[in-house]
Amino acid sequence: MHNLYSTVSSVLSPASPYAADIGRLFWITLWISLVILVGVSAFVIFNLVRYRDRGQGGLPPQTHGNMVVEVTWTAIPLAILVVLFVLTLQTMAAVSPATHPKADPVNVDVVAHQWWWEFRYPGAKVVTANELHIPVGKSIHIQLTSADVIHDFWVPELGRKMDAVPGHPNTMVIQADRPGVYLGACAEYCGAGHAWMRIRVVAQTEADYRVWLASQAQPHPEPKTALQANGKALFVGLTCSSCHTVTGSGAPASKDVGPDLTHLADRQTLAAGVVPNTPEELKKWLADPHSIKPGANMPNLQLSSQQLDALVAYLEAQP
Ligand code: CUA
Repeated sequence: MHNLYSTVSSVLSPASPYAADIGRLFWITLWISLVILVGVSAFVIFNLVRYRDRGQGGLPPQTHGNMVVEVTWTAIPLAILVVLFVLTLQTMAAVSPATHPKADPVNVDVVAHQWWWEFRYPGAKVVTANELHIPVGKSIHIQLTSADVIHDFWVPELGRKMDAVPGHPNTMVIQADRPGVYLGACAEYCGAGHAWMRIRVVAQTEADYRVWLASQAQPHPEPKTALQANGKALFVGLTCSSCHTVTGSGAPASKDVGPDLTHLADRQTLAAGVVPNTPEELKKWLADPHSIKPGANMPNLQLSSQQLDALVAYLEAQP
């Protein structure tokens, strides 16, 4: 297939202080569990061998109640659970937005939809979909909500996971220590398209991020060819614009039923991560969305080949 998922996203390869805290808790819990597993298994095996039936027959001596044993096997698990509980509370505090006051904030509003992600940069008036650009080394404060059902935002290398609940905004922080692309996904079953509700976080240097943000704040490129002009007219005329916003298309902003398509050419994937973003794939998608992503709310508009070419030329226009 294509190369969209050549990197593995794992909690065991943290790329942020928050993910590192969570990873540490995982390893501590794992080691404690391992010690218990080995200890209990060894004790069971020892007793199976040491007190096995050697052919003498009859029941072994029966015992009832032993205060020392009862207290010991209550106290040890209690102590282990208290240690894990305290460590968990410490980790929860460490990855909470409350412990990271917004001195120089990067705020992003994340809205989960069936089945894609809307990313809004309120300060910059930038809206994009499925690809979140962030500057490295800064805490990104996310306000997370949902437009329909419960989803869950999770980029394992960058921070904790958090439910996106309709009507109940949650807050969380993520951070990337170094530039790169970090993969995430919806982590709460949310219907037919759940598996294709992927997240791509593009972590950039502060300077690159500023350039990206400024370019995204510009309107969509004006048509430079007759084909693109035709596509722009179709985008408005075919009512694509009632679900999708393209700033500069002339149509009023939609209610964000579908992803904002301004500067679509800048994105790496289509349909929340199913296929690479190329003109060929976009044409296939517009011709028959459900062959690419079953269950998607994008309708098949029965477009002609000429209409497809014009829309693709307009939507994939480079600045
Ligand atoms: Cu959205 Cu699962």
